[in-house]
Parts: sequence; C-alpha cells; structure tokens
Amino acid sequence: MDHAATTSTDVEVVKAMEPYFTLKYGNPNSIHSFGQEAREAIEEAREKIAHLIGANPAEIVFTAGGTEADNHAIKGIAWSNQKKGNHIITSKIEHHAVLHSCQFLEKRGFKVTYLPVDKYGLIDPEDVKKAITNKTILVTIMHANNEIGTIEPIKEIGRVAKDAGVYFHIDSVQTTGHIPVDVNDLGVDMLSISGHKLYGPKGVGVLYLRKGTKIVSLMDGGAQEKNRRASTENVPGIVGIGKAAELAEKRLAKGAEDRLVKLRDKLIKGIMNKIENVRLNGHPTKRLPGNVNLCFEFIEGESMLLNLDIQGVAASSGSACTSGSLEPSHVLLAIGLPPEIAHGSLRLTLGKDNTEEEIDYVIDILPGIIEKLRALSPFKGNWEGLK
Ligand SMILES: Cc1ncc(COP(=O)(O)O)c(C=O)c1O
Repeated sequence: MDHAATTSTDVEVVKAMEPYFTLKYGNPNSIHSFGQEAREAIEEAREKIAHLIGANPAEIVFTAGGTEADNHAIKGIAWSNQKKGNHIITSKIEHHAVLHSCQFLEKRGFKVTYLPVDKYGLIDPEDVKKAITNKTILVTIMHANNEIGTIEPIKEIGRVAKDAGVYFHIDSVQTTGHIPVDVNDLGVDMLSISGHKLYGPKGVGVLYLRKGTKIVSLMDGGAQEKNRRASTENVPGIVGIGKAAELAEKRLAKGAEDRLVKLRDKLIKGIMNKIENVRLNGHPTKRLPGNVNLCFEFIEGESMLLNLDIQGVAASSGSACTSGSLEPSHVLLAIGLPPEIAHGSLRLTLGKDNTEEEIDYVIDILPGIIEKLRALSPFKGNWEGLK
C-alpha cells in the first residue's frame, strides 16, 4: 500500500521492453535499419504518451524521470526568459524536485513566491492572480499532492496564468495515468510525468512542452529529442513508458478510478470507525483515488510503519529521517498541523492490484498496533480542534 512511492512494472510493459535490450538494441540515431527499428519504437511510444494526455507527439520530450522533467521545465523556462523577468510562483507543498529547483534559482537572482494552502492543501487561484507581477515568467503547481492526495484547481489556475501571459507548468507525476489528464482542457504549457508511478519502469519520464514553448536545455550534447534533451535515448525505458501509457488509458476507460475510490473510502471509514482521535489529511473528495493519509494522536509515524511492515503491509509516513533528526513533512506543516501531530502521520496509497481483502486486513490489524503504541507513548498534545 505504497503506490505513491512506486508501482510494479506491468508484465506487459516488461514484455514490450525486452527486445530493445537484446535483439533490437540499435542506436535510434543510426541510419541503418537496426537504428531505424529503435527510432520507430520511440516514435510509437511518443504517440501513446501524447494520446493519453491529449497532446501532439511533437510536444513530448523523453527525460530520465519526473525529477528531471520538473528541473528541465523550471530551470529551462527561467534561463530562456531572463530578459523578460525573474519571478516564479509555486506553492509550499510541492515535491522537492520543484521546491529545490526554485531554491536553486533563488540563489542565482530569481525571486520565488511560495503560495500557502488551506487546511485541505488547496491552492486558491485568486492567490496566484494576486502574486503575478510584470516580472513573473512561470507558475509551477502540482496537479495532485503526493503525500495528502489533494487535487489542485489546475484549470482555474491555468486560466489565470494564460490571462497574464505567463508560462504554466504542472507536476503531473501522481496524476497522469490515474485520473483523466488533458493538456488542453487543463490549459498547461508544460507537464511532468514519471514512468515508475504508472506501472512503467524507473528512470524514465516525460516533459510535455506545448508547441512554441522555448526552454534552454539542461543537457549540452547531441541533437536528440529535437535539441530539447541531449543523450542517446533510453530506448527500452521509452518503449516501457509508452506501453504503460497505453495500458493506463485502457484502465481509465474501464473505470479503474472508481474501483480505487471505493477501496480508498472503505479503508478511511473502516479505520476512522475503529480508532479514536484520527484525522484525515487532505481533501475528503478532491483527492487522488488511491490516497489515504491519516494522523494518529501521540504516535510516531515510523513506529507505525515498522509494526505494519512486520505484519506484511508496506506503507509510508510524512516524516523523513534525515541526518538522525526526524523532520515533519513540509506538506503537513503547510496545512496547519503542529509538528507533534504531523509526526503521527500514515500514508496508505492503493494501486491496481490491491484487493478488498487487503483493505479488510489493514482495518483489522491497525487498531491493535495503534493501541499498543499509544500505551507506550509518553506524549500528550493539543489534539482537540484538529479533528
Ligand atoms: C509529485 C512528484 N513529483 C516528482 C517526483 C519525482 O519523480 P521521479 O522519481 O521519477 O524522479 C515524484 C516522486 O516521488 C512525485 O511524487
């Protein structure tokens, strides 16, 4: 139950990739037929990705993952628009691939506005409008948050950016392949995708670049990807993400989303009915189909994870153990949780292969784990009012 961290590579994806490691290993930039065979496979994958997000294949640039796509979009626009302006707008709850790219640019003379979010993690499009100045060159906002699952009002923010003539990038790593995503409907100029979040391989991603959007490439080298991303293409990876996109489109058409929403809501209800002093983080309905994020009073996230792991459940928590000190999640702090409550967070993210029996199993074992940990806990905190 940790699909927001990564997903399994679909067996059909692995099958599609395999020949491009062995028999069909040509360099797609070679003139001979082995090269052209690989070239054709890349172009087929480009079409599949474009189809999934309503784009033109020429607008698809393959990268080495979601992080690279985010870096490329943000720094690429910044470097190519320096004469126009030096102001970027983002939010406080972005993934570190976005936040750290913005911090990198701040150290080099750019100004960044980090917009606040409400208690559900929602960004107000009016705040975006108010933050735009004549120096603003880019708005970069995530489609849905990877921790609390909140889906942002992207269409509304897209309209604000368009009216102001500002480029608009979204991090769609947690949404493409999981909910409908259409670049024209959403009104975005750039969009990031990661292969390993949609049952494709790790280390491959996509940057959608709307026609006419000029970015400075982060990589200097050959003319691959029409000069937008140098380096010999990762042919098996690209074939894999293409196949994953094709399968995701089929799953969405069959209502995979609705199945997950039912499982998600059953899990939330089951846990909240059985355990006291639990808080649901994120928006109750504007949330990713498979995302459950809860805070439990007086408990450390890590101890919950270890106990769940012993009983065969892989989950995640909002705390990251860095250099020996437990830092509460920047996302949970941004929605207004005090650090002692943010430390008690548990994220369960469901995927296509989770079953109803597995949901029942977690609802069954979690109360015992929480009871045991609470009995051991020396903490008392300000819980009232946070529910
Ligand atoms: C919202 C979001 N953006 C970007 C990334 C980074 O993607 P990748 O692991 O492909 O670099 C992740 C991965 O956790 C993510 O959840």
